[in-house]
Amino acid sequence: MMTKLIAPSILAADFANLQRDIEMVNQSEADWFHIDIMDGVFVPNISFGMPVLQAINKHAGKVIDVHLMIVDPDRYITTFADLGADILTVHYEACTHLHRTLQAIKAAGMRAGVAVNPHTNISLLEDVINDIDLVCIMSVNPGFGGQSFIPNTYKKIKQLKELILDNNADTQIEIDGGVNSDNAKKLIDAGADVLVAGSFVFKSSNPTDTIKNLKEIANS
Ligand code: DX5
Ligand code: ZN
Repeated sequence: MMTKLIAPSILAADFANLQRDIEMVNQSEADWFHIDIMDGVFVPNISFGMPVLQAINKHAGKVIDVHLMIVDPDRYITTFADLGADILTVHYEACTHLHRTLQAIKAAGMRAGVAVNPHTNISLLEDVINDIDLVCIMSVNPGFGGQSFIPNTYKKIKQLKELILDNNADTQIEIDGGVNSDNAKKLIDAGADVLVAGSFVFKSSNPTDTIKNLKEIANS
């Protein structure tokens, strides 16, 4: 069985001590850096943009997983490649020509991800599943950290896992929003490969131990 991965979401880090928090992730058992880019249009919040990602990339020693919560993501694909993104995830709901967008992400040298909002049915991915390296199932409505996990996510993971197997696709399943040590195991058992965790990691008294603990639970 493939190792299950933990991706701390930098949105919950202390931006006044960003280098310290990045180093913590570097030294921890985390696998990826999850980077949330919000434009205030696709989601009702603005997080941070290119200069901050550039600064993160200077210190981050692990895979950089960029989650774009922006309209018209095609405009910025090469920019994010230049900024060091290894995985670029766009929202299903923000792409009119998703198939083309996925090809453009790959042509720019990155792995291509698609995020789906809680209301978006997994079956809508059927015709592009073989073009997707990673599906990010949103387990909260995107826009903010620290929200409560939506239980319908378990059903969506199972549907997606079935779709992947039926199509012999090589697609990872990532879960984003409200992940903690109480739901981690159940998410993995449903079929998840990557768990994103923001508040649960960074608001804990010992983020390094929290990451270690999540990683253990995910691989138990
Ligand atoms: C929400 C973001 C998430 C967020 C997760 O829109 O996509 O990545 O940072 O944060 P928690 O783990 O606090 O729900
Ligand atoms: Zn995210």
